[in-house]
Amino acid sequence: MTEKDLESVLKETRQFPPKPEFVAQARLNPDRLAGLYRTAERDHAGFWAQLAHTEVSWHRPFSQALDESRAPNYRWFADGTLNVAYNCLDRHLPARGEKIALIGEGEKGDVRTFTYKQLHAEISKLANGLRSLGLQPGDRVVIYMPMIPEAAMAMLACARLGLTHSVVFGGFSAQSLKDRIEDAGARVLITADGGTRAGQGVELKKVADEALERGCQTVEKVVVYRRTGQRIGWQDGRDLWWHELLAAQAPDCPPVWVEAEHPLFLLYTSGSTGKPKGIQHSSGGYLLNAIVTTQWVFDIRDDDVYWCTADVGWVTGHTYVVYGLLGNGATVLMYEGAPTQPDAGRFWKICQNHGVTIFYTAPTAIRALMKMGEDFPNRHDLSKLRLLGTVGEPINPEAWMWYHRVIGKENLPIVDTWWQTETGAIMIAPVPGATPTKPGSCTRPLPGIAADIVDGAGRPVRDAGAGGHLVITKPWPAMLRTLWGDNERYISTYWTPFKNRYYVAGDTAHRDADGYYWILGRSDDVLKVSGHRLGTMEVESALVSHPRVAEAAVVGRPHEIKGESIFAFVVCRDARPQGAEAENLVGELRAHVAQELGAIAKPDDIRFAEGLPKTRSGKIMRRLLRAIARGEPITQDVSTLENPAIVTQLQEKN
Ligand code: WT7
Repeated sequence: MTEKDLESVLKETRQFPPKPEFVAQARLNPDRLAGLYRTAERDHAGFWAQLAHTEVSWHRPFSQALDESRAPNYRWFADGTLNVAYNCLDRHLPARGEKIALIGEGEKGDVRTFTYKQLHAEISKLANGLRSLGLQPGDRVVIYMPMIPEAAMAMLACARLGLTHSVVFGGFSAQSLKDRIEDAGARVLITADGGTRAGQGVELKKVADEALERGCQTVEKVVVYRRTGQRIGWQDGRDLWWHELLAAQAPDCPPVWVEAEHPLFLLYTSGSTGKPKGIQHSSGGYLLNAIVTTQWVFDIRDDDVYWCTADVGWVTGHTYVVYGLLGNGATVLMYEGAPTQPDAGRFWKICQNHGVTIFYTAPTAIRALMKMGEDFPNRHDLSKLRLLGTVGEPINPEAWMWYHRVIGKENLPIVDTWWQTETGAIMIAPVPGATPTKPGSCTRPLPGIAADIVDGAGRPVRDAGAGGHLVITKPWPAMLRTLWGDNERYISTYWTPFKNRYYVAGDTAHRDADGYYWILGRSDDVLKVSGHRLGTMEVESALVSHPRVAEAAVVGRPHEIKGESIFAFVVCRDARPQGAEAENLVGELRAHVAQELGAIAKPDDIRFAEGLPKTRSGKIMRRLLRAIARGEPITQDVSTLENPAIVTQLQEKN
């Protein structure tokens, strides 16, 4: 969030109460919401247990809701057994077998639909195919797919067999894919020949082959879905076509019942070191939290056509494309491509053509489309929309108002949803039939979610408007269980900072006099670039792996559309490049980072200097670098710097 946005957020006083028409039909009105808060406050674990009984189908019911004996490795519903795919498919078949579960629209405009019955059959065939490869419950499967229905099918087929999936975003590089496959120890990789994004081919199989060439010793088989028909490399014995694997399989497959704590998935995300963290999620608690938040925040109904633009490679694509929605028997749209393909009207055209009723996207997409003008949305019939949502980063009031006015025609609730890969489900958000909204605020914690703001010493900040660290003070069902293979890091990252008393989110926030939360941004070395989470250290290690780079320091800089952009300060092994030479090296380093991490991590700015500003103890002064990247005057005391003269150099253009 830029200083300007921050200022306008702090001055924001507009309020938008729910419209009576919405309240009248909403799943939760103010009275019912107040009832939920009361029940949750009276008995936190009992509140969740009650919901777990009504909203999840158990094979063996649980006897205890919350087990705190191994805190902070909390366990929920631990002796219950269930199957997540059964909950997302089988239990809907009697009433919703012919209802459309998934609508897939390709970037080129091809549309495919799957009813719950069809989806159940496809997933069963795929699960039987995977089982025929010898996979056992608990084995890991990495999924590296385009944003097409088959990506969701792959996830659900794993869930059906009790396999733990780890989806890797299709924009990540061979090296990133390899690191994730190796950390997870995956036996199978599911991918596609390719995909399409912004009119360009995405060469998934080629990147996957490169990843496998570099290592990935645990991978035995690669299942390849034919999406584009492009030419690809092939290794006999290892590579299998999806359609051939499924051809001989029966369209039913008994679900494997797993314990509630069984790891449904791992999802790698960035932290403050160079090594991504494998966030480990559970089956029972995760599913429950996904299902109820979809009801509370999206007010999901049987006749909705729901569209979330997030890729399945991110947690939003797990909880609010697949599990929360199919868990509720909803109709979900998946779009493969870019918002501006063939023009900036694509999102609105999709909403019109499919009669989308609920639309959930990221502030960065709203800002990008806002910039393209009102003609694009105005040319399309958006009258079926009834609810709008945002996620991934703070939304500036200006973008919120545009969304409200131009897309919502001043009539639709907007749910600004705060949560994280780690939290598994939405934590702080409006309930659209009950909570008045304020542009830029994610409003109040949901029932059963205990949030607070504390100072550096862990003391709750009580003054309205005072900032601090956002923490969660009680366990919740969808919370991460650990970091895959590194429980120490789980504890030291999320619990040690406040002596195991709170889960620390890594965000700073303040709360206003109405108890509304305003998220200010990350307090660690994590950037949100177009809503994507990246660690400054990851980008730094990618830069340093280039032969000419000796040292690098990366900071975020406010960006009008992306929210934040990457600014890198680089010290070369040889002389500091200048002029045309510097320009060439900038291009080379950007390409290098894309190669190492993925295109989303390419720095927007790279500046060369002969050294980095360090304290005498050798710590890089990031605050100073952030000020320089923003072009702000230096207010810090630079006299403690080991090399004060370097500051002038860092301020100069290459
Ligand atoms: C970080 C988590 C959760 C799905 C996608 C992102 C930021 C997320 C909001 C919001 C302000 C937000 C936070 C958070 N964030 N939603 N509504 N308002 N900031 O998941 O990649 O794990 O990132 O995204 O900084 O910590 P993620």
